[in-house]
Amino acid sequence: MASTLALAACDRNAAAQSAPRVAPPLKSLAAFPVGTCAMTGQFDDPQWLELATRHFSQLTPEWEMKMEYILLADGRRRWDAPDRIAAFARGHGLRLHATTLIWYAQDHPWFKSLTGERFGREYDRWIADAAGRYAGQAAGWDVVNEPVAEDGDGLRDCLYSRALGQDGYMIRAFEQARAADPQAVLFLNDYNLENNPRKGATFLRLVERLLKAGAPVGGIGTQSHLDIEIPAGQTAAFIREAAQFGLPIHVSELDASLRRDGAFDPRTPKQKRDQQTARVAELTEAFMALPPAQRYAFTVWGVRDTDSWLRRGDKDDGKDSPLLFDASGAPTPMFDAVAGAFSR
Ligand code: G3I
Repeated sequence: MASTLALAACDRNAAAQSAPRVAPPLKSLAAFPVGTCAMTGQFDDPQWLELATRHFSQLTPEWEMKMEYILLADGRRRWDAPDRIAAFARGHGLRLHATTLIWYAQDHPWFKSLTGERFGREYDRWIADAAGRYAGQAAGWDVVNEPVAEDGDGLRDCLYSRALGQDGYMIRAFEQARAADPQAVLFLNDYNLENNPRKGATFLRLVERLLKAGAPVGGIGTQSHLDIEIPAGQTAAFIREAAQFGLPIHVSELDASLRRDGAFDPRTPKQKRDQQTARVAELTEAFMALPPAQRYAFTVWGVRDTDSWLRRGDKDDGKDSPLLFDASGAPTPMFDAVAGAFSR
């Protein structure tokens, strides 16, 4: 009898050790929305669905609410996928954050075919259609995405700046978005703001200039695709600088690649993990130090490592772990860094 009981206890112990750790719902640790990105194809993936609805309280369409999906070659619009994402968010009690209305990287062929007055009219109509359609559903929009030059020296030249002026296209976009959706928080969003202090400074000077020009910029989005090899303190310094405007701040697309592009990488896996968790903890703690009214949301750019854009196509080395859950849905050390900072 005793041996049977002992064997049963061993089995239970072994099972407990082998079962994946069930992490506490991340959203239950935060007094602000915790977001992730989504695409309609993920809604039919049971593991994604369980993790997304258990841990997150906000969704950002990863690409299907952008011009590249909605705007057809002849200028007509298709709304099936973005509508499905908005309905999914509503049906699962998730707040919707929308991205993006105007982005240099989406200089759509249809817009390229327009000139003169027609360009401006269609620019306004695009923003009115997209922001208007989700008015009352989207809590916020990335109105202009990635306006600052890659190296931080000035602003990007793009189809929209050439047609409507460098600051002009941005001021116009914010004004049109405000007219279409008087409630949404309207964000200027960019990346490498922590990684490259010059780019961060140029971005914040742009925010100041747009505000002075009367543009209804209502929030600052820092994508936070972190370079984990940057010096300690640089990430927190940007968040503190950004907080000076008193606007809501969105950590809008956090991921923290373990990879070093191209160059030989002598770091051990532990060294890379330690860098990653240190930088992610620094960002999260800096976000937590913001006044509650300035904590718009904390969004990671994907649920599992294998959902990440960093694990697609030629970028994928099959080993990167830039997010909070691994391919099996188990929490990564990055999860612990975020959850720990949320809980402090
Ligand atoms: O899923 C479709 C597939 O069915 C189709 O066959 C294929 C070919 O057309 O396209 C697939 O969709 C692609 C989608 O990613 C999913 O992989 C789109 O073409 C592709 O354009 C889309 O790329 C997105 C990219 O933004 C451009 O919108 C990425 O998912 C998304 O992670 C990335 O996100 C950006 C942020 O918006 C801005 N900051 C940088 C960040 C990473 O690049």
